[in-house]
Amino acid sequence: MPSKVYSAAIVGLEAQIVEVETDVSYGLRSFNIVGLPDKAVEESKERVAAAIKSIGFQSPYHQPWRVLVNLAPADLKKEGSLYDLPIALGFLIATKQLRFNPEQKIFLGELGLDGKLRPVKGVLSFAIKAQQKNYQEIILPKANAKEAALVKNLKVIGSDNIKELISYLEGKKEIAPLKIKIEDFFKEPDYPMDLRWIRGQEHGKRALEISAAGAHNLLMVGPPGAGKTLLAKGLPSILPPLSFEEALEVTKIYSVVGLLPKESPLINLRPFRSPHHASSEVALIGGGNPPSSGEITLAHRGVLFLDEFPEFHRDVLESLRQPIEEGEITLLRAKHSLTLPCSFTLVAASNPCPCGYLNDPERGCKCLGSQIQKYRRKLSGPLIDRIDLFIEVPHLKYEKLVMEDKERASPQIRERVNQAREIQKERFKNEKALVNSEITIPQIKKYCQIDQKSENLLRKAVNSGELSARGYHRVLKVARTIADLDSVEKISFAHLAEALMYRVREG
Ligand SMILES: Nc1ncnc2c1ncn2[C@@H]1O[C@H](COP(=O)(O)OP(=O)(O)O)[C@@H](O)[C@H]1O
Ligand SMILES: [Mg+2]
Repeated sequence: MPSKVYSAAIVGLEAQIVEVETDVSYGLRSFNIVGLPDKAVEESKERVAAAIKSIGFQSPYHQPWRVLVNLAPADLKKEGSLYDLPIALGFLIATKQLRFNPEQKIFLGELGLDGKLRPVKGVLSFAIKAQQKNYQEIILPKANAKEAALVKNLKVIGSDNIKELISYLEGKKEIAPLKIKIEDFFKEPDYPMDLRWIRGQEHGKRALEISAAGAHNLLMVGPPGAGKTLLAKGLPSILPPLSFEEALEVTKIYSVVGLLPKESPLINLRPFRSPHHASSEVALIGGGNPPSSGEITLAHRGVLFLDEFPEFHRDVLESLRQPIEEGEITLLRAKHSLTLPCSFTLVAASNPCPCGYLNDPERGCKCLGSQIQKYRRKLSGPLIDRIDLFIEVPHLKYEKLVMEDKERASPQIRERVNQAREIQKERFKNEKALVNSEITIPQIKKYCQIDQKSENLLRKAVNSGELSARGYHRVLKVARTIADLDSVEKISFAHLAEALMYRVREG
């Protein structure tokens, strides 16, 4: 009789149950794994054999056994080292060296040659699946147990070695199921950055506040060292805190790619991703074989910062356009497609010219006119029509640099942002949009009405060529957000005039 134990596989960000069947008969000595195993699963044979031997059982190579392991469903690719534990246990059951009831239990874990259990990726997704499919227990390496314990109503058994687990499964040893207090991990995050630490740059910080309040994408232009990167890094500290559901969503993404921080099983800080400008399309939007998340998915619910924006390859920027619009990316594979989330705020930064010192009275720009023009053209490339706010970040004078900015600390700004988000939630409760940056032209007409004086100002800006048609709608959305930050329903002339200020660079 073949034995059967249960495990799981990751498809995109979700898990799927995998049955590990093991058949052992006498014959020519062999040990095979079928069911689309990758190299790591293939090599599982050697780790399993050594681990079983080291804890005093007979390994698959001990007798003239023909061992066949089938990972079902057979057409789903199995990747990674997580099947070591279920394969080892399945083999021990099939050879009658071990007896326990494997029903209702999910097993995963990598084995060391001495029987130690090493952590694996994607555990949160596995635990969620186990709970959805009404499994009662998940049995895994101790280092992964906290992560699995984020899921309610699932018994989580973690251990450092297979020997202890076997004693537990035989009923010879108790292992207490791990229970965690969600509140210990789902709490106010430790923000690594506070806008209070950025001196001066009031204009830049105000733009960040508006960006955070209405989820508007932002472009900063300024010389090297002006503080653009610093400002961008400050944005997560003023965005509303993640809800528990959002935190789980982000944690799942980081768990699957193996980037979960060791100290906490739950990510409660909005991500900040800053891919290099030489990044490939696959690195940015995801893909590859097997397909995995790109930077845009790692930035989900947070900030994607494209520094040196004009240096990015045009095709790469072009490929970002659709995911930004839709908040998700569909990666096409030979057989099936995979959809991953990627809802983030885009912050781009650029020097004003290739050398960075255009219009700088002290340094002086060394660029040729044609070089500057070429650079500027890149700035008006594919993504620019997704950006609502344009600002200049100037070099600071010494006096400003030594002045502390006590008024603009992140917690206070975050409070205003939260309030503005609440207003938007209430306003759009019957609409598809969640925030001002997402509204369509009919919604702009409905929610962004302005008075005659503001109308005249906009007309002047459009007629003088300062503002384009697409810029016109963006100004109205931004003005809506500024009014929301003031907690007023009616957009005033001052709100509109400020919004217009963030379009002056438009080319
Ligand atoms: N406004 C500022 N307040 C405090 N430090 C600043 C400020 N602007 C720049 N700096 C300092 O200069 C360094 C470079 O700033 P950075 O943000 O990397 O500039 P940029 O991205 O515009 O080239 C920062 O690490 C910081 O130490
Ligand atoms: Mg920088």
